[in-house]
Amino acid sequence: IVTALACELRETNEEIQSKRLVEEYINKTRPVVLDNPRFRLHYHIAPPVGWMNDPAAFSYYKENYHLFYQYYPFNTTTGNTHWGHVISKDLVTWTQLPIALIPEEELCFSGSAIEVEGTLVLMYTAHKKNEYSFNETQYLAFSNDGVVFNKYVKNPVISFANNNSLDFRDPKVWKYGALFYVVIGSRSSDDKGRVLLYKSKDMEYWEYISEIAKNNGDLGFMWECPDFFELNGRFVLLISPQGLTNKTTDRYQNQYQVGYIIGTFDYATGDFKEEVAFQELDYGHDFYTTQTLERKSIRYLIAWMGSWDAMFPEREDGWAGAMTITRQLTLNGDRILMKPVQAIENLRGPPIFDGYLEPDNIISLNQTGELIITVNVTEDLILNIRGENDISLIILKFDMATKKVVLDRNGEIRQGEWKPILSTSWRVFLDASSIEVFCGEGEMTFTSRVYPNGMWRVVNSSVKGVNLTAYSLNRSVPL
Ligand code: FRU
Repeated sequence: IVTALACELRETNEEIQSKRLVEEYINKTRPVVLDNPRFRLHYHIAPPVGWMNDPAAFSYYKENYHLFYQYYPFNTTTGNTHWGHVISKDLVTWTQLPIALIPEEELCFSGSAIEVEGTLVLMYTAHKKNEYSFNETQYLAFSNDGVVFNKYVKNPVISFANNNSLDFRDPKVWKYGALFYVVIGSRSSDDKGRVLLYKSKDMEYWEYISEIAKNNGDLGFMWECPDFFELNGRFVLLISPQGLTNKTTDRYQNQYQVGYIIGTFDYATGDFKEEVAFQELDYGHDFYTTQTLERKSIRYLIAWMGSWDAMFPEREDGWAGAMTITRQLTLNGDRILMKPVQAIENLRGPPIFDGYLEPDNIISLNQTGELIITVNVTEDLILNIRGENDISLIILKFDMATKKVVLDRNGEIRQGEWKPILSTSWRVFLDASSIEVFCGEGEMTFTSRVYPNGMWRVVNSSVKGVNLTAYSLNRSVPL
């Protein structure tokens, strides 16, 4: 049936022409970015020029991993959103492909992908606005080569939700048995974030099943970019809530955050029963909206390494925004562990340091690095991570007394208690404008943008020596 849908392809001349103009604009503007490589990331996906937010449609099709992203080429803030597109064989090395979706009467908001009978089907939110209001419905687009995408002629395929406000977006689609399912982020008419579930036989006619979860307390007015999947035998609802009010603890320190609810789910009734309440996924400053993909029983995740209130100093250089490195998810007890994808180890050059870093000793890294640190949980650990002119940018600590890991970015503190589960080592990934810290086997992670403007210098500011290995990492994305 979906193949029949795909046959009704539409590729208007205007569409072809607009895509060509966008590509021309990108090529023309690229030199501005290439001339200012100080913050350009070496192994994180970033836009060729212009603005990037949410990852979308993380998928595997025709022997490539595909990732799409919210893209506005013409400015370094968001605008009429397009879909940018990158592919990879190993989830580490990424290549840019031509623009996948361009806005016409609709902006192309976030969404997901599924392969159906050899066709890659995108489902995304068409955001239409005028001076006074906006409207959100769900659209399909198809590709038979994984490069050129055409919008379905009979869009939208889902256009209405009961008791809803105007916010109704970010469909995440999957297949179970003979049916397709989709979860959609929503804000109810009484301003509560919630997730709605639908099913379909053919991707065209969708039937509403249930509200699988709703904010019944302080979890915000809108839940964006939902995702719903099985992980180690339990169901995980991953959401990006806006307007969370409980910011009194160490958690939820950013404007918006990503978190998850664990529970049981019954396909027959559409009932999701919460077993473990909402927990934040990452502890850093810049981690908002996610996409996951399961392949060969491994669940991968990529997040926008950004947030709506971040400064993005790279704007001066003609671009803004980036994705995290790919992570692998597992469930351990009631917590998601998130560790770097294995293949990232292929980027390592020869070790720059391997041994005991004595107090006040320094490791210098040229723009990129991975540190592997063996943490002794009976001692304090303090690393002072510096950039240009030896200015201190990050203080990364383990505080023995409180058992907290602390990431202090110029006084903006993010922290949480860490009980090592599977290992007591940390992996710290430094790139030309980012830091990602993985404690243990991803038991706690911190993702933040930070701007060294050149070399990194890592100083051991602890009283004792630190057992550490450091590598530089090779480039795996286009400059
Ligand atoms: C999340 C989000 C999505 C929306 C997209 C628009 O950051 O607001 O809900 O689809 O960004 O760019």
